[in-house]
Order: sequence, then C-alpha cells, then structure tokens
Amino acid sequence: MSEILTLGIETSCDETAAAVLRGGRELFSNVISTQIPLHQKFGGVVPEIASRKHIVNIMPVIDEAIHKAGVELREINQIAVTFGPGLAGALLVGLSAAKSLAFALKIPLIAVNHLEGHIFANFLSAPELEPPFLSLVVSGGHTALIKMTGYNSFELLGQSRDDAAGEAFDKIARVMGLPYPGGPEIDKLAKQGNPDAINFPHPKVAGYEFSFSGLKSAVLNYLNTAQMKGEPINAADVAASFQRTVVETLADKTLAAADEFKLDKIVLAGGVAANSSLEKTLREACARRGFKFYYPSKILCTDNAAMIACRGYYQNTFADSTLNAVPNLGL
Ligand code: KG4
Ligand code: ZN
Repeated sequence: MSEILTLGIETSCDETAAAVLRGGRELFSNVISTQIPLHQKFGGVVPEIASRKHIVNIMPVIDEAIHKAGVELREINQIAVTFGPGLAGALLVGLSAAKSLAFALKIPLIAVNHLEGHIFANFLSAPELEPPFLSLVVSGGHTALIKMTGYNSFELLGQSRDDAAGEAFDKIARVMGLPYPGGPEIDKLAKQGNPDAINFPHPKVAGYEFSFSGLKSAVLNYLNTAQMKGEPINAADVAASFQRTVVETLADKTLAAADEFKLDKIVLAGGVAANSSLEKTLREACARRGFKFYYPSKILCTDNAAMIACRGYYQNTFADSTLNAVPNLGL
C-alpha cells in the first residue's frame, strides 16, 4: 500500500476544508468549516464575505486536519488544491495557502478540478470502486454526465445548457421562503408531499444535455399565479412534484447513457447526490437492471477536501507557483 500522505485543500465556495489522505483511499482526517449560517441571512453565498471568512479559517482548518490525522506537517508528501471552478476570491485563499506550504515544505503541488474531485469522493466511500463507469455530477453549479474510462480519462457526454440542478433547487426554495441552501430543505419538505400532485413540464433537450431553467420558471410561475389569485398552495406538494420532475429527468438520461455506452457501474456525485429521492430512484433502477450503483456518504457529497486529496493522488500532473484560480474551469 502506498504510504504517500496528501494534504487536500478546498475553498471554492462556502466551505473551508482540509483533509489528510494516505495512499488513494485511506482517509486520516476530513475537516470542514462551513460558512452556511453566515450566508443564510442573504439567501445565498456572498462572494466577498466568503473570501474573508476563508482567510480567517484556512490555517486553523489545515492545522486541525493535520492534528486529527495524527501526523506532523513535515510528514506530508504532497498538496492537492482546488483551482476551479468556483468563486475567484474564495479559490485564491486556498491556492495561496497551498502554494506557500508546498514551497516551504519543498513538496509537489497538484492543481485539482473541483468537479473531478466530486467524482473521486466515491473512491473514498467505496474503496473497491475502479473505472470504467458512468458518473452523474450534480452540484450547485454543474449538472453533467461523464464517462470515466481511467483515473485520468474523462469524456463529457453532456451538461446543462443553463441552470444546474442544485441551482434550480436553491432558487425555488428561496421563493418558497426556505433557508439557504434550498436543496436539503426541498428534500425534507417533499417527504410530506404528493409527487404527482402537480404536473410540471419535463425539460426537453436532446441527447445527454440538460436544461433546468424552463422547469424552474414553470414552478415560479405556479407560485406567482397562486399568490396573485390569493389561492393557498400546498408547499409540500410543490416541493415533491418539482423534485420528482428533476429526479426523473436526471435518472432517465443517466440510464439511457449507461445502456448506450454499455457501462454497468453508475456513480453519483456532487451536492445534489445527497438528495434522498435521486439516490433511491437510481439505486432501485440500477438494481432492476443489474447495474452497480455508487454514491458518496452524505459528508463526502457536498464540498470537502478529502475528495480533492483523492483526486490529487491519482492525478499524473503537477503545478508550480504560477498556478492561478480558474473560476469557470470546465470538465
Ligand atoms: O457540490 P456542492 O456542495 O457545491 C457545489 O460545488 O456547487 O453542491 C451544493 C448544492 C446546493 O445547490 C444544494 O442545495 C444541493 O447541492 N444539495 C441538495 C441536497 N443537499 C445539497 N439538493 C437536493 N437535495 C439535497 N438533499
Ligand atoms: Zn462542489
């Protein structure tokens, strides 16, 4: 087994996170300092506040990750850091910390794509998992279907043309008066509602591309119309019906891609992977077809540095001190 110790650092959005990983799969520590309560009163992430809070948190979070791992900083062999996509100012805080530490410790620096990191969270939850597989990445900023044939071979089959799935969850929740982030709130509320109560239109986009802005507008129109007419709405039914439409859309495209590309392993990734209905729908559909289904544990679904360390470990390229943030980095 590899004895390489990787320190992962993640600051792309509203979590300051650091983790220590031995080899590719043995997680020694996973520290996440969330800023969610700070941004909640604004109904979403305020980039400037996020950067400032990352500056305050980054070194204590790294110290804690090293301490909890039971190792010394000088024992760390390499540093993996998120360089995009994400908020520019937020990314720069993690990058500065990673670059300075790598320089001081004279160890390699690895630049990690946050979206690839989400997929790699699955290797930590399921140590037996190996490529090839099909991955559905659903986060606050991205919705994408990716064919992964090796640790460093990704093929993007399709992604969202407009809103990401998580973004639609968050915007609808906000209009319904639910706290940020809206995804978990809609998930909770939907459990008390009837998913067949309202027929929202399924997005109609060819191939493996997605679009959630039309669905989002349909739900917002439904809520506005009811408000203008002074009609009561059943919030749980709205949440359940919206969630059903999103989940069916994601599951249908994923299963169609698995069939077309003859991939019998499906790997769910990103914050929306924590959605109970998406997980259940895909798990049951995979069981019916004899496919293997993987999704990360809840704490590894949303942003964390363990997945960044894992992605870094398997990456075969290194960065230098000229590394910069790439806020709109694609897959
Ligand atoms: O991957 P992530 O932590 O951050 C990004 O890289 O964007 O994803 C955050 C997104 C948010 O939109 C949040 O509402 C959504 O994941 N999310 C959920 C659930 N938990 C988090 N969406 C639906 N159901 C959930 N249980
Ligand atoms: Zn993320």
